[in-house]
Amino acid sequence: MCGIVGYVGEEHAKERIIDGLKRLEYRGYDSAGIALPINGKIEIRKHVGEIKNLEKIIGDAAYDSSVGIGHTRWATHGAPSDLNAHPHANGDNSIAIVHNGIIENYQEIKEWLIRDYGVKFKSETDSEVIAHLIGIYYDGDLLQAVNRAVEQMRGAYAVAAIAAAEPDKIVAVRKDAPLVAGIGKGFNFIASDIPALLKYVREVYLIENNETVVLTKDGIKIYNEDGKVVKRDVFHVTWDADAAEKEGYEHFMLKEIHEQPKGIQETLVRRLNEDGTINLDGISMTKEDIENFDKVYIVACGTAYHAGLVGKLVIEKMARVPVEVDIASEFRYRDPFVDEKTLFIAISQSGETLDTLAALREAKRKGARILSVVNVVGSSVARESDDVFYTWAGPEIAVASTKAYTTQLICMYLIGLYMGSTKGTIEKDYYTQVLEELKLLPEKVEKLFGEEDQIAALAKKYHRKDQVFYVGRGLDSGVSYEGSLKLKEISYINSFAIAAGELKHGTIALMEEETLVFALATQDFLYEKMVSNVEEIKARGARVVAIAKEGRTEIEQVADEVIYIPPCMDEVSPVLAVIPLQIFAYYVAKERGCNIDKPKNLAKSVTVE
Ligand code: F6R
Repeated sequence: MCGIVGYVGEEHAKERIIDGLKRLEYRGYDSAGIALPINGKIEIRKHVGEIKNLEKIIGDAAYDSSVGIGHTRWATHGAPSDLNAHPHANGDNSIAIVHNGIIENYQEIKEWLIRDYGVKFKSETDSEVIAHLIGIYYDGDLLQAVNRAVEQMRGAYAVAAIAAAEPDKIVAVRKDAPLVAGIGKGFNFIASDIPALLKYVREVYLIENNETVVLTKDGIKIYNEDGKVVKRDVFHVTWDADAAEKEGYEHFMLKEIHEQPKGIQETLVRRLNEDGTINLDGISMTKEDIENFDKVYIVACGTAYHAGLVGKLVIEKMARVPVEVDIASEFRYRDPFVDEKTLFIAISQSGETLDTLAALREAKRKGARILSVVNVVGSSVARESDDVFYTWAGPEIAVASTKAYTTQLICMYLIGLYMGSTKGTIEKDYYTQVLEELKLLPEKVEKLFGEEDQIAALAKKYHRKDQVFYVGRGLDSGVSYEGSLKLKEISYINSFAIAAGELKHGTIALMEEETLVFALATQDFLYEKMVSNVEEIKARGARVVAIAKEGRTEIEQVADEVIYIPPCMDEVSPVLAVIPLQIFAYYVAKERGCNIDKPKNLAKSVTVE
């Protein structure tokens, strides 16, 4: 979380940095700020709230500098406020920094700085210690001062620093937080993520852990931990700059919901050969490896974890191997049963979620084979995995994940099919049937968009509820969790998901007149059981919106409303069943006047524990 941008060139840095920050606002929007070296001094402007607040205080002021750094914050240490906003400076404003991450030993460093150097702190942040540390070590060489400061810092960080006395350069450093350098002609950029730079550059260097970068307008030098210059391949960004724009949609979330047919199609096409086999380009896992795995762990956070819940059932069914799904922040601290015979699957849209990355490292340490399902090419999770199954969803900007989820599901099917066909645990006919069903999904999702008005009308009707339940069985149970998360994170309605069969073991106590329940009933072999669950819920007076396959109309007898998804094999129904839930969450949040793309307290990429 937190986004950093730095520019060094010949044009106005201020505009370019603010433009880059706007494209990184999904990483946090508690406050924003910029620092520019001007006439031997560093000018800092920062303000609590979104970037538009910063723009207001800057107004028409020129801030004439062709070098600068900027920051958009997701608060960890210290509440969102003007003082806690970045950039932070040392005592005499000769050094300024922006930071993404957490400095774990900041208290210790802070006490030392106060005791031995009489430093006066202005903020409650952990980040401010970095500016003071660099200030203390600075003797005219910013690179050397940053390197010395880093030696004392523990934790996760991407830091960009400027010095008033060296107004022609930016020095940046990373450890466990993303950082990319954008390569221009006569200018260069540093940023947390590629979308910040896309308007100006399409070629970047991906900075690795423990590397330091020095940017001037004429060049980018990357140094490793030992201070040696590193040669890095140029990474060409292939996606369109427009993909990170709203293209006429009111919100990124709505645009991304509508991009799902394309994302699903792309994720499939990249892995399917003409003869129907799955291509494993770039994947080194052998038949022998697959036969040797005696268990699979799927580990992720949030929506990606929900994709894992579906993945568990799919892979177990197809590959006949036990699969555990775990939340990354739990997995990493509980000494799990992982060894050389374990396949560890990390799922992550951003590829930068700290807990997922830490879980991956723990599994690797124990000898597991690491396969990741990642959207952001070249991200940390992708780079640290043995093999990567990319989701080709394109950049996801809205904080609430939609197209990343459905493309993650596609990867789960492809992995299940590949493992199953390699091990001989699925018949050829079944393999072909699932593949054909997957290929039909983009068209079926498109068809579901025809129901958008009906779903928007339901949102209008129910948007004042203060709690909503989601229930389902089998694969529908996993989808219920995702539907519930979508609603709560963008509309702030208290929502709750539970396996339908578990309802009567406690939660049904909460069902009363006017409680709203979404009942997912898309699994043919569990359909009758779901109809009985709906009856039980109705008997307590609650209102039920059911999701069922076209043609399965019996549920109309018991539910208040039914949203139909196109007929499909049970296996692939999660990809369709989630769409009405995403659309419902979107329109409820809209009715309630919420900040849909940037919900409060959240950030897109969670790079802190
Ligand atoms: C919810 C959402 C989050 C993320 C979670 C993991 O809509 O987007 O729950 O799924 O923070 O992020 P990634 O997938 O980037 O690891």
